[in-house]
Amino acid sequence: MKEVVMIVRPEKLEEIKKIIDDIGCGGMTLSTVMGCGTQKGASAEKGVNEIKGYKTTINLLPKIQIEIVVDDQYVEPIIMKIREACASEHVGDGKIFIRNIEEAVRIRTGERGSRAL
Ligand SMILES: Nc1ncnc2c1ncn2[C@@H]1O[C@H](COP(=O)(O)OP(=O)(O)O)[C@@H](O)[C@H]1O
Ligand SMILES: [Mg+2]
Repeated sequence: MKEVVMIVRPEKLEEIKKIIDDIGCGGMTLSTVMGCGTQKGASAEKGVNEIKGYKTTINLLPKIQIEIVVDDQYVEPIIMKIREACASEHVGDGKIFIRNIEEAVRIRTGERGSRAL
């Protein structure tokens, strides 16, 4: 099993939700985050340079972070579809990170591994 973590533009949520539904993934975790990439947030988009009252020289832009845990064979198709939906000619399209997942447990039933997804 792998966890696919995607950090993308908030307006992409509906398209990504559809991609996740289409592959039959059981669930997702979504967080709203602030971040920057290579450009340290330098962009036409207005971000924030203060977090909890502390000033920073980094321009933080709002993104969504979506985490899904899937069987290994879905990782490459997901990457392809997310890129199709989110790649533009503008900086800030986001990133995808892949993590190994050791185990999954559905608490209600005790199912393990893929069956718990
Ligand atoms: N190396 C990284 N580690 C953790 N998060 C990152 C990293 N690079 C980018 N991100 C996250 O992804 C978001 C989008 O990054 P993006 O600007 O598209 O990357 P880049 O400028 O490097 O191409 C950032 O706002 C940040 O939340
Ligand atoms: Mg960037």
